Amino acid sequence: MAEYKVDILTGVRPTASLTVANYLGAVKHIVDLQRKTKNIVIFVADLHAITDREPSEVTKYTNEIVADYIALGVDPNKTIIYKQSDIAGEVATLSLFLARHTTVAELLRIPTLKEKLKKGMRPETANALLFFYPIMMAADILVQRARFVPVGKDQLPHIEITRKLAEKFNKKYKEIFPMPNALKIKTLRILSLKGEGKMSKTTPAGAIFLSDTPEEAAFKIKKAETALEGQMSEKLKSHILLAYNLANNLDDKKTIDEIIKRHKKGELVMGEFKKILTKIVQEFLIEFQQKRNKISDKEIKDILKRGAKKARENARETIELLKEAVKF
Ligand code: TRP
Repeated sequence: MAEYKVDILTGVRPTASLTVANYLGAVKHIVDLQRKTKNIVIFVADLHAITDREPSEVTKYTNEIVADYIALGVDPNKTIIYKQSDIAGEVATLSLFLARHTTVAELLRIPTLKEKLKKGMRPETANALLFFYPIMMAADILVQRARFVPVGKDQLPHIEITRKLAEKFNKKYKEIFPMPNALKIKTLRILSLKGEGKMSKTTPAGAIFLSDTPEEAAFKIKKAETALEGQMSEKLKSHILLAYNLANNLDDKKTIDEIIKRHKKGELVMGEFKKILTKIVQEFLIEFQQKRNKISDKEIKDILKRGAKKARENARETIELLKEAVKF
């Protein structure tokens, strides 16, 4: 019987400049899961990232994102963190053995491929690594034999492919891969402080970065769009969500409730609302940045070294099982 080795596995792409929306959308879920689950593993998907970025740049961001995650509450004593490239051999080997169980047509149908393509490009002309992404993601998951993979809606097709590949392999040879399951997470959707769309680093004026100074954050909130007295706009709802989820005490939440009650009655209170939002955001940023500054390069290196050891153990065992199953 195939045995799970990891309860929860998640991959993060190494990117610079996380925003508070990234924190609330992804990182906070992992921090919350840490309280309930013992065996959580996070890896930095640096091999995936070279699809569209220079490898040197990817390496630079890898350590940064690990430090960000730790400062945001991921506990390296509870949660294993490793770099995907530290088990590159095992991931690549498994990718090849999985790739032979899928067809080009199947890969072309994966919706994420189409979404990731630049406008006017067709899947046929995609970078072959982008095309290979779902296979490598399946290898990431199956090489660690993970039970749950927390993902947003956009990543569900990848989990489906992973399950399909595991099933095909198990049926044809021997049941070595336990079935992974998508752990659907409800992601908080924080909008840009002004203008269109979600908060994202592509519109910096509407995004609060974890590295923003308290003054920068205050300035952006000052310029934020809200709503007319008595009205609830999508923007204002998003700001409330942001304030509520970043607040670290009940009093601030109560203050928000009171202000919004008065707003709904038609009072002119958006200035007050911005004041409390600014206070909450600034306190959050200051606390984060204090923790972040204390994390040394050596600490990160040690954490990744420990993580690599554990990840390699699992991965090598999986490759041994695979070779035995296919008699290779
Ligand atoms: N594809 C994921 C993303 O875009 C990152 C990722 C790569 C991943 N491999 C994974 C997530 C394996 C979970 C499991 O965010």
